[in-house]
Amino acid sequence: MQVLGISGSMRENGNTAALVQTVLDEVAKAGIETEYVSLAGRTIGPCIGCERCLKEDFCSVQDDWDAIAERMLEAEVVVLGAPTYYYDVNGQTKNFIDRTYSLFHRRRLAGRGGVAVVVQANAGGHRAAETIEGFLSAHEFVSLGSVVGNGFAAGAVLGDEPALTVARETAQRIVAHLGWR
Ligand SMILES: Cc1cc2nc3c(=O)[nH]c(=O)nc-3n(C[C@H](O)[C@H](O)[C@H](O)COP(=O)(O)O)c2cc1C
Repeated sequence: MQVLGISGSMRENGNTAALVQTVLDEVAKAGIETEYVSLAGRTIGPCIGCERCLKEDFCSVQDDWDAIAERMLEAEVVVLGAPTYYYDVNGQTKNFIDRTYSLFHRRRLAGRGGVAVVVQANAGGHRAAETIEGFLSAHEFVSLGSVVGNGFAAGAVLGDEPALTVARETAQRIVAHLGWR
């Protein structure tokens, strides 16, 4: 699979899902294989700071994180989306990010393309995007851009035309990135 989209929202059919899928749909139009994963309903506990991953390849906490991490390792581009909660990503997304520490030591994600997608009601989205960009940067992804959309009720972001335009432009950047490889 070439492009993996992940929505970290606990609302399965919410705004983050819609905006991540907007990017994936545009990428798919170019004939590129995509996969979408929602973290809604998944059990993704926090990093417990055990540092066992310094010696072992993978996180030793047993829950739903593993299967999604495996998909991420198989992807060439990762599009990670989150809703804005108190000017940052929501807890589920942060747990997901923190658990990637086991992949950080040997930079197992390095060189992939990465995109940050965030939805806010009206404030804090850029700060939340910085959290995802920090994750991408620490893991040495190649940043392919970020999208910040506006919407409160589920689905409202699909009315944010400027954000949809940025989402489609970002998708084109993903397509170009994959073309160069
Ligand atoms: C606990 C909580 C905290 C939130 N904090 C913010 C915030 O700081 N700024 C903001 O603009 N919207 C905030 N929101 C609104 C969500 O970001 C917004 O509804 C978003 O579209 C949700 O995305 P989703 O449908 O993918 O879950 C908050 C919502 C919740 C439930």
